[in-house]
Amino acid sequence: MADEAFVTLATNDNYAKGAMVLGKSLANHNTTRKLVVLIGPQVSDPSRSVLKGIYDEVRVVDVLDSGDTAHLAMMKRPDLGITFTKLHCWTLTHYSKCVFMDADTLVLSNIDELFDREELSAAPDPGWPDCFNSGVFVFRPSMETYEKLLQYSTEHGSFDGGDQGVLNGFFSNWATADISKHLPFIYNLSSIAIYTYLPAFKQYGGNAKVVHFLGETKPWSYTFDPSSRQLRGGGGVQEAPHSSFLLEWWSLYSSTVVPMLHEHYGDQPFHSGCVEFQLSDMVTFDSAQEERLASHAAAAPPLSSEERKERWEQGQADYMGMDSFENIQRKLDAFLK
Ligand code: UDP
Ligand code: GLC
Ligand code: MN
Repeated sequence: MADEAFVTLATNDNYAKGAMVLGKSLANHNTTRKLVVLIGPQVSDPSRSVLKGIYDEVRVVDVLDSGDTAHLAMMKRPDLGITFTKLHCWTLTHYSKCVFMDADTLVLSNIDELFDREELSAAPDPGWPDCFNSGVFVFRPSMETYEKLLQYSTEHGSFDGGDQGVLNGFFSNWATADISKHLPFIYNLSSIAIYTYLPAFKQYGGNAKVVHFLGETKPWSYTFDPSSRQLRGGGGVQEAPHSSFLLEWWSLYSSTVVPMLHEHYGDQPFHSGCVEFQLSDMVTFDSAQEERLASHAAAAPPLSSEERKERWEQGQADYMGMDSFENIQRKLDAFLK
């Protein structure tokens, strides 16, 4: 088991936030496997430090880019050529078996049973179910496979311009050869599928083990605004069927990742995506929390909304007091109800 790992990828600080939340979610659900993140040279030092606090191994890799603008344009995702970098995961040969997970996935329960599966196991893609989605897959690191994959992509390219096109071309008998390599959809529930088949989501969504925020708008693209009681920037997400998953992502992010970012960024500004949490929005506290808040309020003069907002945006939230995790959690719980 020590030679098995969950692996993700982040080539920039935004995807690194996703990787931080994913790593935390795996740890919170008590995985017994190692956690590895592949990063691009662009990821900043403070983000690397946070990743080091969450992952067993943070490995810098060269960024590979398909440069295939034509196919990427068809997907309306010009940014995804860089996902070729994912192929580096096959070079992690100090592990015998791994599970790759996109940085925009979130684990909702322990999924260590995935290591019982063989290469290449993955769930169907919601857009074309005879293809697998490459956001979650089981693989065996091997330099031989890595070289073959690179060779395949040089010779054949990728039909979508990203890694998923290459991988489906290379593991082309996935759809028909061995049903045990078809992971249940609950291991890669993409938010898109919730919209396309809502009754199925209502029937089975409660069993979801991994949610995948597939598509252009990622959880970190939103701004969480407690006063309007919604995530801003995604266009009416409050009514979105997957908003509870988004809030779960935000709950983990604000409670465990933001404090670490704050610690490592020090005085340097960073964008957390959180707007202040107003005291007037809070629901009732228990007596211990009341006490902590009271002593805190006595020590410092109250800040105006504007001042608190500025502090949040500079990464100087009042984590021990008004912006404490308990308060944030309470807000989120209130939303979820
Ligand atoms: N990725 C990255 N940097 C990028 C784009 C993608 O590190 O600029 C990685 C990241 O792990 C991400 C994965 O490649 O989750 C696949 O991209 P994305 O999740 O955006 O694709 P989607 O699932 O939306 O099709
Ligand atoms: C897909 C997958 C993603 C992959 C991208 C490019 O939509 O979800 O993991 O990187 O296609 O091939
Ligand atoms: Mn993804």
